[in-house]
Formats: sequence, C-alpha cells, structure tokens
Amino acid sequence: MNNIPDIVLVHGFPLDEAMWADQVKFLQALGARVFTPHLPGFGPRAGNPPHRCSISAFAEDIHHYMIRNCKLPCIIGGFSMGGYVVLALLHRFAKDACAAVFIDTHPAADSPEARQGRMKSIANLQTDGIHSLVAQMLPRLLSPTASPSLRHRVQEIITRQHPAGMIQAQMAAAMRIDQTAHLSQIAIPCLVVGGSLDVITPPDLMKNWQRNINGSQWVEIPNAGHLSPIEAPDAVNKAIAGFILNTVCPGLRPAASSGKNTN
Ligand code: MLT
Repeated sequence: MNNIPDIVLVHGFPLDEAMWADQVKFLQALGARVFTPHLPGFGPRAGNPPHRCSISAFAEDIHHYMIRNCKLPCIIGGFSMGGYVVLALLHRFAKDACAAVFIDTHPAADSPEARQGRMKSIANLQTDGIHSLVAQMLPRLLSPTASPSLRHRVQEIITRQHPAGMIQAQMAAAMRIDQTAHLSQIAIPCLVVGGSLDVITPPDLMKNWQRNINGSQWVEIPNAGHLSPIEAPDAVNKAIAGFILNTVCPGLRPAASSGKNTN
C-alpha cells in the first residue's frame, strides 16, 4: 500500500469499463486502487436503460459510486463522454476530487450538426441495431494505422452494448450544456491527454480549452487516434504516472511491485 489517492476512471461512448484494462493493470502495479464504474445503460450487464438520462445524472451516479466504494477525495479521470461526466462532477462535487485527468474530450456542447448526427445515429440504432454504431464509430475512434486486433477488441466492446442504453446516452450527450465557463473554477491539479491523430477531439482543440484550467498540464500521445488509452496504452500510462508521482503526490515512493512503463 502507498498513499496514492483512489483513482476512478469513467469510460466513453459507446464503450464500457473494458476500455481501461491496460490502465487498471498499470496503475494497480503502481500501488493504486483503481475503480472503473459503468455509466448507467452501458456494459454487458446493463439492465433497462436509465429513466433519468443526462450528463448531470451520470455525474450524480458516479459520485454516488465514489461515496460507496472509494476513499474521498479521489483522482478522477474521464475519456471523451466520460470527460463530460467528470467536468459535471467537478462542478457539483468539487471537494470529492483531488486531481483530474481528461483524455480525448472537451467541455463544449454539441454543435447543431453534431446533434443532427446523433439523431441520425439514434434512427440507425432503432432500425439496424448496435452494428450500425460499429460502422459509424470504429473509423473515428481509432487511427488508420491501428492493428486488426485492436479494431477487433474495440468492435467487441461496442457490440456488447445495448441499443436502448446507447440511444439514451446519445440523447444525454446531445442535450449536455457547455461547460467551458466552469474550467476557470477548477482548483485541483489537472492533466489533459490527447492522441495526435484524434479526429473527434484533435490536439489543437484540446490545447485550446486546456489552457483555461489554471496550471493544467497537456500531453500529446503520438500516433494515436481518439481512443488513445487503447491505442497507445504505454504512452497514456506514462503520462498518468508522471502526473501522479510528480504533481499529485510528489515525493511518493511507488509500490515495490511498480510496473515499469515499457514506452
Ligand atoms: C466518446 O468517445 O465518448 C464519444 O465520441 C463522445 C461523444 O459522442 O460526444
């Protein structure tokens, strides 16, 4: 055991906690307790879709999970839609987070075009089921150079999601509010990480909003698309470990079993 705060990682759309497998292994080897809750309606065991679906309700759900399972305050990280949730959580429950990690995400609301795209995606989910989402999302989540086995891994995660939960999540994302004005109120250490080949939240967009969080750090992950935690796990793990050991817990000695970063 060491004194790294508990770490909570919130997945993106249309994925589940399996996206964090490489980070969980690495951070546990560092001596941390890592928690990867499913957002309501996501994951292989998702029941009926939640009746109250919004990014703010997702944030409440993750906050309840933190209260039940973690020692507060936690380090809280979010990928893409998970980042929207982390921002909402920080706004409402700031005292329960001691640091934040944002991966391939952004604080703005959907543009009218993005909202229209979600409505089309919902219509496709209703008529063609979850496979429509694979065709739509896979080329945007991974870079063109991602290996067939990575594509297969991501496809497997997407296809086990329930269409009804994905429809609800698309609605929640479409209705979310712009959180840009909240960035300057964030008063905890923050790391912002993004893939250099991300077409959903490109590095220039990420750097643009990251500057609004006082003292935050930016790390660009080379040769990775949007799903950098899966596509370039060593580089993402190295960035998170550096942030924890140098900024969040300076002077901390990693656990003896500390996994060496192979990046
Ligand atoms: C994600 O990766 O979570 C999604 O691309 C986010 C979104 O649909 O806005």
